[in-house]
Order: sequence, then C-alpha cells, then structure tokens
Amino acid sequence: MWWKNNIVYQIYPRSFQDSAETEFPNDGFGDIPGIISRLDEIKELGTGVIWLSPVYKSPDADNGYDISDYLDINPKFGTMADMEKLFAEAKRRDLKIIMDLVINHTSDEHEWFKKSRDPKSPYRDYYIWCPGKIDKRGRRQPPNNWTGFFAGETWEYDEQSGEYYLHLFDKKQPDLNYKNPSVIEEVKNILRFWLDKGASGFRCDVINIIYKTSLEDGKKSLTVQGMEHYKSQEGNHAVLQELRRIVLDKYDCFTVGETVFVELEDAKLLCDESRKELNMLFFFDHLEVDRRVARFIPKKFRARKLLEVMTKWQKGLDWCALYLENHDQTRIVSHFGAERNNKFPGKPGQYWQRSAKMLALFELTLRGTPFIFQGQEIGMTNFDFTGIEEVNDVESRGLNKLMKKFGIPKALRWKWIKASSRDNNRTPVQWDDSENAGFTKGKPWLGVNSNYKKINYASQKNDPNSVLNFYKKLIALRKENRCLVHGDFIPIHADNRIMIYQRKCVTSSAEAEEYTIALNFSYRKIRIPKKFISLFSGTLITSASGEQWDGSLLPWDGILIKNN
Ligand code: NOJ
Repeated sequence: MWWKNNIVYQIYPRSFQDSAETEFPNDGFGDIPGIISRLDEIKELGTGVIWLSPVYKSPDADNGYDISDYLDINPKFGTMADMEKLFAEAKRRDLKIIMDLVINHTSDEHEWFKKSRDPKSPYRDYYIWCPGKIDKRGRRQPPNNWTGFFAGETWEYDEQSGEYYLHLFDKKQPDLNYKNPSVIEEVKNILRFWLDKGASGFRCDVINIIYKTSLEDGKKSLTVQGMEHYKSQEGNHAVLQELRRIVLDKYDCFTVGETVFVELEDAKLLCDESRKELNMLFFFDHLEVDRRVARFIPKKFRARKLLEVMTKWQKGLDWCALYLENHDQTRIVSHFGAERNNKFPGKPGQYWQRSAKMLALFELTLRGTPFIFQGQEIGMTNFDFTGIEEVNDVESRGLNKLMKKFGIPKALRWKWIKASSRDNNRTPVQWDDSENAGFTKGKPWLGVNSNYKKINYASQKNDPNSVLNFYKKLIALRKENRCLVHGDFIPIHADNRIMIYQRKCVTSSAEAEEYTIALNFSYRKIRIPKKFISLFSGTLITSASGEQWDGSLLPWDGILIKNN
C-alpha cells in the first residue's frame, strides 16, 4: 500500500507561503499559488504526500476549520482553478494530496445552517436543535451540562428559531446531525467531489465524535464534559463504514482520522482493516506525557513515560500514524527538545540543532507512516510572543477567559497559554533571512518568530550539518530500509533521560535485519548501561551529534546503529 511506504508533509496554508497571485496579493496570508511555488522543496525533502489543512470557503472563526462551502475555495487562498493547478503540479512531481475533511461541524455561515434556522426547513434536521430547559426560577437553561473543546459553552440560543443548537467547538461551528441520513449523503458527495478532482484521501477532523447517541447530562469532568454520549459510538463506526464502503473503497485513497481522547481499544476497532473504517489514526497520548488536563498544564518530562506510551501504541495497533507536530500542537524542539525551557545549562540554543535532529531520528525510526508538519524539518521553535494580545488562536482565547473566570492570575495564565497555544506552530514558515522570513511581502497575519535569521530554510539548504539535511537523509534511509518502516518495534530500556529501542524484521532472504536506536533527552552525557551495551555492536548509521559513538550518549544525541 503506497501510503504505508510514504511520508506525509502537512501544509497549514495560511502560514506556508504568501504570493502576489491571488485576488489579495501579498496580503500576509499564505495561499495556493504560494504552495505551488514551493512544491520542489517538498519533493526534495523526500515526502510523497501532502496533507492540506482546509482551504475551503470559510469565515475563519477557527482558521478554516469552520467551512461555509465544502466545494469552493476561500478567495484568500486563491480560486478553484488554482486548486486544480495545485493537483496537476503535484502530480507532475509524483506528489499526492490529501484534503482535510471537517464534517463534525460546518460554519454557521454554511447555507445548510442558515436554512436550518427555520424550524420548518428540510435542513432543520441537519443540525442538533433542542428547546432547552427552564430552571426553578423560570429562566431558560441549555439542554444539558456538556462543556466544549474550546473551554466554553456547547449550546447557543438562537432567537430566530427559539431553540438552542449544539456546538462542541466555537459557537460559529454548529455540529451536524449524523442521525440524519441526508447529512451522510451530503458527505458522500463532498468526498466524491474531491476524489474526482484528484485528492488521494482525507485527514478526518475529530472523526470519532461525530455521532451523538444521546443528549443526556455528562459525568462531571475537568476537561470535556459529556463525551461519553458521543465519543466512539456504535453509530460513529457505522457512518465510517458506510463512507468507506460506498465511496472511499472505489478510489485509490487512504484516510487518517484525528481521534480525540482516543483509547487503544477504540483505536483498534477504528483501524481494524476487516471492519473498513479508517486506515490509520492520530492518537494524542505521546504528546501529553508531560502535560496535565489534556495538553494545557506542563509537568515534568520523563523519557521512560514516553517510551511506555509509544510502546503501547506501536504494539497495540497494526499501523500507526506517526507525528510529533501539527497545527494544534507546539514545536517539538520546544516541547521534548532542548528548547523546552529557558533554564538550560550552557549557551541558549546550544543544543537546539542536535535535539531537533534527535527528535527527527525518533519519529523516523518508528513503525508507521510519519507526518511532518511544515517547519518541523528546519527545527522551528515555539513563538516568542510576549503577551496574550498577540495570540490569535480561538482555543487559547477561550482558555484565557475560562481561567480568568476562575481567578487564575495573569502571569500564570500566560505561562500556561505560552506552553500550550496552537499559535506556537502557526507562525509563518521561515524560508530565508529576508524581511518576514521570505513568507510575505506584506504584513503577516501572525507574527514571524524573531529567530528567523538564525533558523531558516535557505541557510540550511546547503549546510550538510543542518536539521533539514538530517531529515532528508533519514527520509531517504527509511525509503531504502523496509525494516525501519515495517519491522517490529522492541522497547529495550528507558529512564528519566534516555530511551533505547530496536527495530527488527526478517528480510526476504530470511536473514534478520536489526537496528538499535538510543536517544538522550537531557543536557547530560550518559553512559549506556553495561547490560545493554552488547545491543550496540554494528555500524553507526547516523547520529544527531555527528560524533563517533564511544558507549556514551552526548547531551541530546540520538544514534542509529545497524546491528550485525
Ligand atoms: C481539530 C483541528 O485540528 C483543529 O484545528 C480544530 O480547531 C478542531 N478540530 C475543530 O475543527
């Protein structure tokens, strides 16, 4: 299957590359012609598939994850003709494109929703409308106690209809009603439309929560309350099976589901090939090993915990979607790498490059399909904004409001938002050291990280020791070594700072192939414990430090050994 042997590159269009070729030239907003102008860079990296975050028509309440027309393009990104050109130019370079399928909700500006405001409209039942309750004092209250993903309400009262509608995300993102077969038919048409245009599959947004079995009150919860009524429901599985059987299986395509709060048992069902639902999914556990309350409050990082969680998924699922970053996360070098706090020993930034490479080694030596988020391949870091006013993310703003309500002081609120905000990954790609990092000739929609003169694509392109060239090297290596892609994952050892694992497989000539990987997530030089040293006999294929291997791991180093 082509999607198993491939590597996916995620583009978050508004931050990728601006151009002068749309209705809004140099508007500080990345666009489709901008993407076309950078396809060669994506090809050179060695990735074969692009996941395109939403480019559809949208009022942008949640940066395009609120769609007002699934079959049209947001003019800020370009036109349908630009999109067709993107498919053609990608194909010419043997690059496939998967689209973002956001079908849990639409925008409240979608025609379906506008019509559904009328209780008599056939579109009424496309969404989840409910009369609400009256409390003891005779006041109107929402239909249940659910809380939302953006730290806010889940019900909005609509004066025109005299009822509430459900929105698990922002109030501008009303949830669709999957008990209504017409909604499923609409989704099938959307899938066909994009597959016929040339898409090779879909990344499916929050796809394990689309079916709401009941609207009863939820159990008290610190995070999202009410989830037991809609997470991984039988009806959800049935919808996915129907879409797969009736549409997706007729095309050469794949799906990767974004599955929120997913547990291994659910994930096994969702990805079981014989059930025909999803091809693979994104789980979140590994990025939350140093976080409390989902990903919002930081706690101490331990390599042992990370290996334990990874092992659970590597062994538990037949095939994993591998990722360390996306547009909802923070930069991995600032999360698990040496940039994770500013109290590190040595010069600031001393281990930035090495730890970025070590993390590349981690992702690219696991079993599954790796996804690389734009900028990850050059080791981009978290933003350097100085205050909440500079943050655009609707989730961070919701969180700030909620924390304020609970009396959490400003400094603490900022500390947590800084550590978790999705804007960390949404700053423009740093292409070169010219103004605005070569992203735009206008004013960028979100601040450019001030480290762009040091961290940028152009300066890394011809530097053999750069993070970029390390990614290129590992991607090429992975393409040539079946064992790194398909081999078994074998955890060996981990403590607070280091981890060791192996990849093993039997080749066609019946000889076992084996790799040992050791990673250091700390500022200390660490000796490999004696009892594991025999596992390191063989050839050093590469290391993050570029140094020879002498039985110790240098600070933030990672090594890959081919055993003999
Ligand atoms: C997950 C997407 O990745 C995120 O960016 C978005 O805010 C929510 N789903 C809602 O669509």
